[in-house]
Amino acid sequence: MSETTLNRYQQLAEDIADGIRAGALRPGERLPSVRQTCAQRGVSPSTVFQAYARLESQGLVEARPRSGYYVRATRRAPRAEPQAAPPRDEATPVAVSELVFDLLESTRDGDVVPLGSAFPAAHLFPFDTLARCGARAMRRLAPARITGALTAGDEGLRHGLRRRYALQGIALAENELIVTHGAMEALNLCLQAVTQPGDLVVVESPTFYAALHALERLHLRAVEVATDPRDGVDLDALAGLLSRQRVAACWFMPSFQNPLGALMPPLRKQALVELLARHRVPLIEDDVYGELHDGARRPPPAKAFDREGGVLHCSSFSKCLAPGYRVGWAAAGRYAPAVTRLKMMSSLATALPPQLALADYLDHGGYDRHLRRLREALAAQRQRALRLVERCFPPGTRVTRPQGGYFLWLELPKGVDALALHQRAMAEGISTAPGALFSADRRFTHHLRLNVGHPGDRRFDAALRRLGELAHAG
Ligand SMILES: Cc1ncc(COP(=O)(O)O)c(C=O)c1O
Repeated sequence: MSETTLNRYQQLAEDIADGIRAGALRPGERLPSVRQTCAQRGVSPSTVFQAYARLESQGLVEARPRSGYYVRATRRAPRAEPQAAPPRDEATPVAVSELVFDLLESTRDGDVVPLGSAFPAAHLFPFDTLARCGARAMRRLAPARITGALTAGDEGLRHGLRRRYALQGIALAENELIVTHGAMEALNLCLQAVTQPGDLVVVESPTFYAALHALERLHLRAVEVATDPRDGVDLDALAGLLSRQRVAACWFMPSFQNPLGALMPPLRKQALVELLARHRVPLIEDDVYGELHDGARRPPPAKAFDREGGVLHCSSFSKCLAPGYRVGWAAAGRYAPAVTRLKMMSSLATALPPQLALADYLDHGGYDRHLRRLREALAAQRQRALRLVERCFPPGTRVTRPQGGYFLWLELPKGVDALALHQRAMAEGISTAPGALFSADRRFTHHLRLNVGHPGDRRFDAALRRLGELAHAG
C-alpha cells in the first residue's frame, strides 16, 4: 500500500486485487460470499458490494447470476491503477503558469510526437463538412442576426444546444446558456462570477492545469481534494473540508476528468450536487469530455441533478467536433445573469461565423454519427496504448483504465523523476505532460499524462515503447 488513505470499499477492493495479481486468487476462483467477507473484515454488505463492483469495472472479476463473483481469466493480470492521494488540507497560492508555458512551448513543434498534447488527431474531425455548413450559413446570414447574437450568442446555436440538453433530460431556462470563446472562457467567467480575490476554491487532486491558471489569474487560493481514478472526487473528504473552511466554489470534472479520466457514477454526482447545495457552494462543472464515452449513453453531468441552479455547466466543441473554432458555452444556472454581464464587459460577444457553422452542423451535419465513429476510434486506440504500456513500462508502473476520453495517467515507480523523463523524451522528439503540471504544490513527481487520441499514427506506438525504455532507466 502507498501512503494514501482509501475508503473502506476501495481498501477492500485493493486487497483483493493484490491477491489476484499475486496469484493467491486464481482465474475462475469464486470470491468469498458477501456475508463471509462482512464477517471476515468487519464491514457492511454495502462496502463489500461496492468493492466487488469496483473489481468488476476494473475487469478483474465477473458477476455470475445467482452464483457470485469469480476471478476473471486473463492471460496476465493487468497493471494496478494509480490510487487517489489525499492532498494537504490547506490553501495554496497558485503559481504553475511558468512551468506550463515552458512545456506547452516545447511541444508546439510539429515533428514532436505529441503524447503531451491535450488534443486528439485532427483527422478525426469533419472539417470539410463544417466548412460547407459555415459557407451555407454565412450566405444566408440576415444582418439582424448579427446584432441579435450579442451577448449570449447566436439564437440558432443556443437552440441546438438547448435541444441536446433537453434530450438528456436537462431543461435549461431560456437565458441560461451563454456562448463563449471555448470552454476556457466559460470556465473563467463562471469562476469570476462566483468569487472575490482571496477566496478559497476547491479543485481536484490532480487537476487540469488551466484550472490552476484561472485561479492564479483571479488571485484565488486553491484547496485540493483527492480524486480517485474511478470514482472521482472523494465526497467524505469534501464534506469535511466544507465543514471546516469557507469555500467560495468548487471546480470539478465529474466526467472523464483531466488528467485521470475518472467518471463519477451518477449516484455520486447526485450526492455531490446535494452536498454542495446544502452548503450553498456553487459547482463549476468542466465537462468538455462528456461526449467521448465508451458506453452506449452519454453519462449524465452533475448538472442533471441540479434543482437549485447551483451548477454552472461548461463545455465546448473543442474536443469532440471542432478544435480551433473556439466555441464553448456555459449553462450557468442562477448565475447566468452575472456571467452574461461579465461576458459583455470582457469580450462583448463570441465571433458569429463559427457559431453559425456549428448551428448549421447541429441541424444537418450528422453530429451523432460523427460522435459514434470518434468514440469507437478513441476507445480502440486507448486499448492499444494500454497494451503497449502493460508491455513496455517498468514493473510497479500503475495506469488508469478510463471509460472514455483519450488520456492515460501513469504512476511510475517512485524513483522516476517525471520532469527529467519528459526532458529526456523531448530530446528524442517525444512530448509528455509530467505530473507536476497538475497540482498547485507539484506533488505528482513520478506521474505522467499521456494523450493516446491519435489512432492510425504509428509514431505513437514507437514513442510509447521508447518512453517505456527511458522510464526503465529511471
Ligand atoms: C478539462 C478541460 N477543460 C477545458 C479545456 C479547454 O477547452 P476549450 O479548448 O474549449 O477552451 C480543456 C482543454 O484541454 C480541458 O482539458
